[in-house]
Amino acid sequence: MCGIFGYIGKRDNALDLVIEGLKKLEYRGYDSWGVAADMNGKLFIEKQVGKISEADLSIFMGKKVQMAMGHTRWATHGGVTQVNAHPHFSWDKKIVVVHNGIIENYEEIKEFVGKEKFISQTDTEVIAHLIAFYRQTMPFKEAVLAAIHKLKGRYAIVVMNVGEPYLIAARRGSPLILGVGKGEYFLASDIPAFLEYTQNVMYLDDNELAVVGQDVEFTNIETGKPIEKRLVNIDWKAESADKGEFEHFMLKEIMEQKDSILRAINQDDDEILEIAEAIKKSRGCFFSGCGTAGKVCMTGEYFFSMIANRHVNFASASEFPIYHHFLRPESLLVVVSQSGETADVLEAMDAAKKKGAKVLSIVNVAGSTIARTSDYSLKINAGPEKAVASTKAATSQLAVLMLIAYAIRGELQEGRRVLAETASAVNDMLNPRFLTYVKDVAESIKSHENAYIIGKAENYPMALEAAIKIQEVSYMHAEGFAAGELKHGPIALISKGTPCISIIANDEVKQDIVSNTMELKARGALIIGIGPERFKVFDQWIKVPDVGVASPLVNLVPIQLLAYYLGVLRGHNPDMPRNLAKSVTVK
Ligand code: F6R
Repeated sequence: MCGIFGYIGKRDNALDLVIEGLKKLEYRGYDSWGVAADMNGKLFIEKQVGKISEADLSIFMGKKVQMAMGHTRWATHGGVTQVNAHPHFSWDKKIVVVHNGIIENYEEIKEFVGKEKFISQTDTEVIAHLIAFYRQTMPFKEAVLAAIHKLKGRYAIVVMNVGEPYLIAARRGSPLILGVGKGEYFLASDIPAFLEYTQNVMYLDDNELAVVGQDVEFTNIETGKPIEKRLVNIDWKAESADKGEFEHFMLKEIMEQKDSILRAINQDDDEILEIAEAIKKSRGCFFSGCGTAGKVCMTGEYFFSMIANRHVNFASASEFPIYHHFLRPESLLVVVSQSGETADVLEAMDAAKKKGAKVLSIVNVAGSTIARTSDYSLKINAGPEKAVASTKAATSQLAVLMLIAYAIRGELQEGRRVLAETASAVNDMLNPRFLTYVKDVAESIKSHENAYIIGKAENYPMALEAAIKIQEVSYMHAEGFAAGELKHGPIALISKGTPCISIIANDEVKQDIVSNTMELKARGALIIGIGPERFKVFDQWIKVPDVGVASPLVNLVPIQLLAYYLGVLRGHNPDMPRNLAKSVTVK
C-alpha cells in the first residue's frame, strides 16, 4: 500500500516524471499525495489531499530539476490530511522521506528525537527526524544506516538530503524496485510506473540499501558490506499498463480474459509435473491467499478434490496462524497472490519456512517478494493488473490451479485441452451483446441496497467472490452463501424483490441448487441465474458456455461485469474504490 516514485538523471523535468509515475501508482493508495525536490539547495515540497489524477498541477509548470521524489498515500497512522501526506521532512528541512510500510516503534523514537519536533500524526515522520539526528555527526549514507538500524517494522523508503546529489533507498518487508535507464534511475513501488522509460530493473531485497546518483551502489544493511546486483530485463510492454480504448482499467482487464487464460496455461510441462510431484509427496498441503486470491484457493480445494482426488487444506492467509503448528518439513504451502507482496501471505510463508516446509507461489507480478522467496514459483502471465478489483488475475490463477490438478491426475494435456476450450469460450462470451445484456441486468438492480449470491461445490467460492466484487466496486451490500445453507438462517433476509444471483453449473449438484433457488423465489426474491441452462425459476438469465469442471472460470466473468456496471451505474469509479488499495502490504 502507498506508492513511491523517485527519479534522478539526465532529464531536467524530474518533477513531471515523478507526477506521471505517481499517477501510475495511484492504485496503491489515493488518499493524498506529495512530491519534493531540491531546488538549488532549498527544499521544494507540495502535498495535497485527494487523488493526484484529479489535482491541478499547474504549480509545477516550468520547474526544472534533475532529482525528485513523491508518494501517493493509503493512510495507516494518522488521518487523511495535508500534513500527514508524504514526503515528511526533518525539523531543519534537510532530510526528506517517503515511506511505504509501518514503523512499529515510532512512539519510542519520537521520545528519543524529541516530541516537540513533530508536526504530523504519522509513523513516517520519525524516520526523517532520526536520520537528521544522526546526520548532525555523520555522512548521509551512514546516518541513514544508523537510523534504520533503530527501526522496527516494515519499510520501503526513499530519502533525500537537500544539498546532496543522490537519493538513498532501503527496504525491509515492503516493495521497492530500481529502474535502470541510460544515465538515469527510477525508484518505484512497482515496475509499470517506469516501464515506458526502461525495462531494465534491479530488485532491492530485504535489508538492502541503495545509493542512487550518477551510478548505483548496493549495501547490505545488516553487515554494511557492498552487494553485487543483477540487471533483470522485464518483458512487459508499456502499453499493457494503459487504459487504451476503455473507460476504466477494470473493464479493460475483464476483456483481456479473452487472452490471459491462454497465457496462464502456457506453462512449462516439466515444471508443472515437478510441482505436481511435490504436492503428491507432501504430507499436509495448504492453500492460502487473501481476498479474491483466497477465493481462488478455496476453489482450488474443490478442483483438487474433484479432479485430482486429493485433499488440501484451505485457509485465508490472515487466518493461517491457527494452522502454523501443523506445518512440518514434509508440508507444502501453496500461496496465490496477484501482487506478490501481500503481508499476510508473506507471514504465512515465513511460518512455513521456519518449520522447514516448502512453498509454491502462483503470482502475477514477476520479481515480487513472494515470487522471489518461494521454493517453486509459477507466473500466471496476466500482465499488469491496475484496477483495484482483481479480475483477470483471478481467472488465470484458477486456470493454473486446475492445470496442476490435472497434472496430479496424470492428465496434464487433457487439462490443457479443457482450459484452452474454456479460454475460447470466454473469448466468444465477451461480445458486445453479452456486455449490453449484463449492463441491463445491472440497471435493473442498481437501486437495491442488498444482493445475495448462492453457489454450490466449486461455485460456492465464486458466490463469495461475487460478493467481494459487488461490495468493493458498487458499495452495495452483497453476501455470498453456500446454496444449501440458506434454509439454516440467511433465507430470513429475503423479501419481495430482493436480487438473488444463483450460479448453476451443469454438474451433479445442479438439481439441489435449483431447489434452493426455488426456495428463494417462493419468498419473493428476484432471481438472476448464471449458467449454461435456463431454468424456469430464473427471472433473468445470464447464459454462459458449458465448460464442465472449469465452470468457475466462465461464471466469474459475468460476475465481474455485473459488479463493474453496478459500480458505474451507481456513480462510482470502479478502478479506485474508497478505502481500498491494490497491494495490501500491511497486516
Ligand atoms: C479484490 C482484491 C483483493 C485481493 C487481495 C489479495 O478484488 O483484489 O481481495 O485479491 O488483496 O491480493 P494479492 O492477490 O495481490 O495477494
